[in-house]
Order: sequence, then structure tokens, then C-alpha cells
Amino acid sequence: MTLLTADRAAQAVVPVQRRAVEPAAVPATAVGSAPAPLLRVAGVSLEYRTPERVVRATHRVDFDVYEADRFVLLGPSGCGKSTLLKAVAGFIAPIEGEIVLGGVPVREPGPDRIVVFQEFDQLPPWKTVAQNVVFPLRASGVLGRREAEARARHYIDKVGLSQFADSYPHQLSGGMKQRVAIARALAMQPKILLMDEPFAALDALTRRKMQEELLALWDEVRFTLLFVTHSIEEALVVGNRVALLSPHPGRVRAEVNSHDFDLHSVGSSAFQEAVQRLHERLFESDPNAAPGTPAAPR
Ligand SMILES: Nc1ncnc2c1ncn2[C@@H]1O[C@H](COP(=O)(O)OP(=O)(O)O)[C@@H](O)[C@H]1O
Ligand SMILES: [Mg+2]
Repeated sequence: MTLLTADRAAQAVVPVQRRAVEPAAVPATAVGSAPAPLLRVAGVSLEYRTPERVVRATHRVDFDVYEADRFVLLGPSGCGKSTLLKAVAGFIAPIEGEIVLGGVPVREPGPDRIVVFQEFDQLPPWKTVAQNVVFPLRASGVLGRREAEARARHYIDKVGLSQFADSYPHQLSGGMKQRVAIARALAMQPKILLMDEPFAALDALTRRKMQEELLALWDEVRFTLLFVTHSIEEALVVGNRVALLSPHPGRVRAEVNSHDFDLHSVGSSAFQEAVQRLHERLFESDPNAAPGTPAAPR
């Protein structure tokens, strides 16, 4: 993690591309001669259908995630962030567009995409920390018992919980439980780690500490991360690239580079200016609002 000069920070948050409504009009990438993206989300619209109505959660969303990216989806509550993550995880199918991971269209959930949620109760309470991390490794048939236990120990150590390997979730703080969830996800060595507001329920100090730890972990392991948040500050700190989503239904308004920011930049004026710019961009009214919002009656 680097400490920034104000000059570098001032350049960090610049829109790298304006998004058009039609996916075909979107350039493949702003990175130039970059390799093929690990994850391609192209023209993805997602809907919930109930007997009474259709709710469009996202409208023709495009973004590419490259290996070792920390890509953040930033948008107000209800704009479809969780729905997008569920679609990448394979729980929901797009009504248009496609999601491709490593060249293969996503059609169902798989061990190559692991989600960490906000909730603290995502760990079965009757399993110890070690058992929680071992379980998916064994259940998915990835590893035999001894290898699974060794790998679990490795990742529990990485998140600093070795001393708590035999503790039960109810004996841990909220932050510690999230560390277990992160260790459990990373132990599966997924192609991409999906995190849905994982720190939103934590107190401010713990949240900051968890952001710091996540970045340190990324420095060490270099996993690919797709991270959802409604916090502008968190997006700038955690992400190297940030996609701004419009309010419901979510559409990508802009993509910004944020790789020069980290927790050390938070107090700087450049950081605060970046926050302000993103805030204005997020909440400005959208002249191209998609039809049928917020909900189209059937
Ligand atoms: N199971 C569901 N059935 C119907 N509508 C839903 C369901 N889940 C979410 N929605 C709606 O889809 C939209 C996007 O929700 P969500 O993806 O949870 O937003 P975010 O995570 O950005 O807060 C919201 O309008 C929400 O009310
Ligand atoms: Mg959500």
C-alpha cells in the first residue's frame, strides 16, 4: 500500500469511460492492450418476476473484471448491486446480455465463485472456525481431509485467527466472523471472490480495520475481487476500479480508476474531492432513465 502525494491522488479518480446504453457502443476496455477479461458482464438486465409485477433490478449493465482487479460496484441502496452479484454467482439468470467467466458463460453456481455476505450468521454456529473453513473444501470434493485441514489452517492463519481455530462463531466478534467467512472463501481458491457489503454491519473502527486487512490480504494473495458497497469512501479505498451505478434500476454511469487511494489517503483533500465528485455523479438526475421504473405493473 502506498502513501500518496496530493498530485497523484488528484489524478486518480478520473472517469475512464462514459457508458452508453447500448452495450455494442461500449469500448471493450480502457486499459489498452490488456489481456482478455477474467469476468465479462455484457448488456446484463436482471428482473424479479412475481405474479403481480416485474421489477427490473439492473438495465444493460456492462463491465469487465481483470485478474487481480479489486473491482467495486458502487451505487445507492436498491440499485441492483446484490442482484448483479447473485447473477455473477449464478443464482439468477439475466433476461438479456451475458456473463462470462474465464471464457465460459455463467449458467449456475460453482466453486469458482464464492460469495461473502454482510450477515454475521453465514457461518453454521455448530461448527468451529476450522470446521467452517474445512467444510466447503470437503463438500465440494476439492480436497481430501488432510489437505483440506492444512489449507484451512493456512487461510485461518492469513486472516489472523489461528488462536481461534477451535472457537465457535458465537465466541467471536462480528469482525472476526467476517474474517472466518473471508478465510473460508479464499480457501476455496475461487477464480473470483464476490463480496456483498461485507463490512456494512460493523462499527466504523472495525470496518476500517477490515478494509485494511482485506487490502493486506490482497497484497499477499492477489485474488480477484468483485466488491459491492454503497459507501463512496469504501469504494475508493478498497477498489482499484469502481463502476458507478445509477439508482434503481442500476445502469453503469461511469467507471473510475481508484488504484492510487488507500486508507492513508482518507484524510487528504484529494480524497475528499474525489468523494465529492463521485457523490455528485452518483446522485445527479439521469436523463436516460430506463423505461418502466421503478416497477412495471403486469
Ligand atoms: N426477491 C426479490 N423480489 C422482488 N424484487 C426484489 C427482490 N430482491 C430485490 N428486489 C428488488 O430489486 C431491486 C434491486 O435490489 P438489490 O439488488 O437488493 O439492490 P442493492 O443490493 O443495490 O441494494 C430493488 O428494487 C429491490 O426491491
Ligand atoms: Mg444489496
